Amino acid sequence: MTSRSKFLRVFEGEVFEAPPVWFMRQAGRYLPEYRALRAKAGSFLDLCFNPDFASEVTLQPIRRFDLDAAILFADILLIPHALGQRLSFVEGEGPRLEPVVDFKDIDAFRSRDVLKDLTPVFETVAKTREALPEDKALIGFAGAPWTVATYMLAGGPTKDPSLLRRRFYEERELIDGLIDVLVEKTVSYLCAQIEAGADAVQLFDTWAGGLPWPVLDAVSIRPLEKICRAVKEKHPDTPIILFPKGVGEKAGEYALLQGGDGIGIDYAMDPGWARANLAERVVVQGGLDPLLVVAGGKDMENGARTLLKLFHDVPYVFNLGHGFIPETPPENVARLVEIVREGV
Ligand code: CP3
Repeated sequence: MTSRSKFLRVFEGEVFEAPPVWFMRQAGRYLPEYRALRAKAGSFLDLCFNPDFASEVTLQPIRRFDLDAAILFADILLIPHALGQRLSFVEGEGPRLEPVVDFKDIDAFRSRDVLKDLTPVFETVAKTREALPEDKALIGFAGAPWTVATYMLAGGPTKDPSLLRRRFYEERELIDGLIDVLVEKTVSYLCAQIEAGADAVQLFDTWAGGLPWPVLDAVSIRPLEKICRAVKEKHPDTPIILFPKGVGEKAGEYALLQGGDGIGIDYAMDPGWARANLAERVVVQGGLDPLLVVAGGKDMENGARTLLKLFHDVPYVFNLGHGFIPETPPENVARLVEIVREGV
């Protein structure tokens, strides 16, 4: 018997009757224990930058649901914050930062030492790894350059981030410059997480959807490939998972990236297509509609069983097709984990 986590063994090619399971946004507002600690911490950023609290929040869903992997509690927008774009979270509205205007901003980003500002995050990783049992994996993460850039360019969330491609057409050099800085800083950020104890890392490209091919290739696929290669150069054995949300069959291009080991599939993707076209090349992760877990009952159970059946003979990690929303009843999550543990 090995104590190596089920999650990591999947990346070595092992197939389980009951696959390992974790969930995007598994720590968060749907859990009363999260809301309590969040209130105690003050702001969301105070929570992210307090290693005792952040590591406690990371462990909460593991204790409650006995999941196979914990995901570091932090946010993809800590990178722009560390680059000097002051970040705040407005209650009920989401993140706010100062928008990127011109090349002066990019030059200022380039000269910043993000690792210094993000030291508390690495402390959280180390503390969490120490507290986790050996058979549970710890996943680190970062936002993909394009997704992080959409918030940096707009100064917050936008209804349709793909419209920011206009700036790619009109200010190509500025966008390329911003993406390049993000590639460089993200590589050092992820390597530092791995060095602090993360067993795997995931890159969230939440806003990759809706981009025409040449833009998608330039702002999402190539930058992610650069990140994967550079991280692998230093840490060849650490699995890297990509979550390119909303890209449909273009997910096949991400599966070809050198250095990428897993692809997270979103809830709109046909899992049958993913099984036929991705599973032979990479570990497939996820797919379940998070709103099915809000609804619960037979629909949720059937949705989960469909995925378990479809991927029963290939390395697969059970997860959602995007993060839990705050309205998710924790008892539905517990039932979902039971179903995954039953296997096919
Ligand atoms: O449990 C986990 O998955 C780990 C922690 C995590 C958070 N955000 C915590 C969080 C992770 C991996 C993220 C990633 C993230 N953050 C993404 C990519 C994945 C995705 O969900 O699409 C994006 C786009 C962000 C940016 C972000 N952070 C937004 C737009 C918001 C506000 C909107 C919202 O849902 O409130 C956040 C805040 C945030 N990040 C919360 C949490 C738990 C809620 C903050 C609170 O407690 O008030």
